[in-house]
Amino acid sequence: MEFQPVQIARHYLPHRTHYYYARSKFATDPLYRVVAEALTDTHRPLLDVGCGIGLLAHVLRGNGFSAAYSGVDIDSGKIRSATAAASRAGLKSTQFSEVDLSREFPQHRGSVALLDIVQFLEPSAQDALLESALACLDPGAVLIMRSGLARPGWRLRFTRFVDWLARMARWMNVGPKAYPVREELEQRFARHGVQARFESLSGRLPFENWLIIARRSEQAPNDRQDHAAAPPASNRPTIAVQGLPT
Ligand SMILES: C[S@@+](CC[C@H](N)C(=O)[O-])C[C@H]1O[C@@H](n2cnc3c(N)ncnc32)[C@H](O)[C@@H]1O
Repeated sequence: MEFQPVQIARHYLPHRTHYYYARSKFATDPLYRVVAEALTDTHRPLLDVGCGIGLLAHVLRGNGFSAAYSGVDIDSGKIRSATAAASRAGLKSTQFSEVDLSREFPQHRGSVALLDIVQFLEPSAQDALLESALACLDPGAVLIMRSGLARPGWRLRFTRFVDWLARMARWMNVGPKAYPVREELEQRFARHGVQARFESLSGRLPFENWLIIARRSEQAPNDRQDHAAAPPASNRPTIAVQGLPT
């Protein structure tokens, strides 16, 4: 199906800020199309964690994704806007609700999207979020995640700066806290019997962006005991945001 960014953005009117945000986001960021492609062959319900104004729901429906979609975010204004836009667009089996992920995680079985959210949580909350998200995965489900990874180099500094600007511009109500470490993610996925693919999404963009697509293998180990032995991310210094206002 055809991707119609201007039509999607119009569903956010009369909220002009969200209309222009949608226009510029679609024009500059391939994220939603990449995610929609990755979910093309999946049929499990999707929980979009930290869904913002729910742009992904529109792109998924346009791409033929027909399973139930549920978006959660801490920001009540974004949830209101997401709900109104989905209703104007007539999106079926689509719902949004206000949830603070550092306190609770919704009941869910199926796929989970974590797009540009993990770095805005404290390391201990990241641990809990990733564990909850991985526990949702059932056969055929996918965990799809975009995040910067904590690596040396100017790209992460630029990404951190832009995440911090989003906070200053009040688009985000929190600043970045810490970026995940790839090796720690790989170890966590392995403990859950989940196979993951890491793809750089940086392309020509100056961001330190990775798309991570994880699926549970057929015979997942019963790994609940292993989790106790796992080093929590909260033990790791938040080196990626040292010196930044939060
Ligand atoms: C950079 S935006 C990404 C939005 C969306 N995933 C996307 O890619 O379009 C990060 C989102 O995480 C949400 N967020 C941050 N901390 C949160 C928390 N503790 N609980 C729920 N949502 C949170 C913010 O409100 C914001 O909408």
